[in-house]
Amino acid sequence: MEIYHPPVMLKEAIEYLKAEEGGIFVDATLGGGGHTEAILKANPKNRVIAIDRDEEAIERALKRLEPFGNRISIYHANFSQIGEVLESEGVEKVNGVLFDLGVSHFHLRGERGFTVWKEQPLDMRMDRRQKLTAKDVVNELSEKELAEIIFKYGEERFARKIAKEIVRKRKIKPIETTTELAKIVEDVIPKKLWAGKKKHPAIKTFQAIRIYVNKEFEEIEQGIPAAAEHLSCGGRIVVITFHSLEDRLVKNILRSLEGFKVITKKPLEPTEEELKENPAARSAKLRAVEKGTE
Ligand SMILES: C[S@@+](CC[C@H](N)C(=O)[O-])C[C@H]1O[C@@H](n2cnc3c(N)ncnc32)[C@H](O)[C@@H]1O
Repeated sequence: MEIYHPPVMLKEAIEYLKAEEGGIFVDATLGGGGHTEAILKANPKNRVIAIDRDEEAIERALKRLEPFGNRISIYHANFSQIGEVLESEGVEKVNGVLFDLGVSHFHLRGERGFTVWKEQPLDMRMDRRQKLTAKDVVNELSEKELAEIIFKYGEERFARKIAKEIVRKRKIKPIETTTELAKIVEDVIPKKLWAGKKKHPAIKTFQAIRIYVNKEFEEIEQGIPAAAEHLSCGGRIVVITFHSLEDRLVKNILRSLEGFKVITKKPLEPTEEELKENPAARSAKLRAVEKGTE
């Protein structure tokens, strides 16, 4: 059965991109192609240049977007490379750029070890051409490095203890699966803090390792300013984030862009209606900025 990634805050993204007014848009995180499709439908003159670092996502989206012919171009790249992508398209300025950050449903439902809930090899690469996997990180980094990563990207207060236990366990045998890693974290965090709760105690550790493996924050730090350089006056950058660390980073980057006005003083959140349909959108936040006249 086909798995769909329900596009998060779709109406809001289209509105804040001003996609109905027409133009050239970049979807920096194509995924299942839901947002791209909506941009293309918003105005028959719209063109979308879409990017994803995951080849499987691109293959799936290609099928879905076939009916739009040459109004859509798709690139297998990191969004930090937006400048090069636009150069090869022969496009200098665009009207809007959308970043719908993080992993997709395909990742969570797939077999690359993105979730604590399924026993899978520790991989976590969004781009399979990349060499570094979660298994390498867990088995090869020093205890200090692991503790720093788990604390910095997971805001996990037991980071040092978890790192220590990882190092102790991997001396006996390499840590190969999601379940092995999840069990190590379970053993470290006092049971009274997580027993009976819906959230798995290893979620923060998994988030941290995933961010590190995919250099997610470096991508955001480079990708948003690069997008800003290629916006025409009145053009907008719209960013959807999924956790507080990511949102804080995006908020600060957007605020620091010179010549841009913040459109969303407070970030938008999904409506009750959307949450009923798609509870996974729970932690989404949308922020937008607009480029002023030069
Ligand atoms: C939340 S999903 C996007 C879903 C999409 N908006 C839709 O409607 O189906 C995020 C996608 O962005 C991709 N991605 C994440 N970071 C990326 C990066 N730095 N460069 C390019 N693609 C990235 C992931 O591979 C994933 O497919």
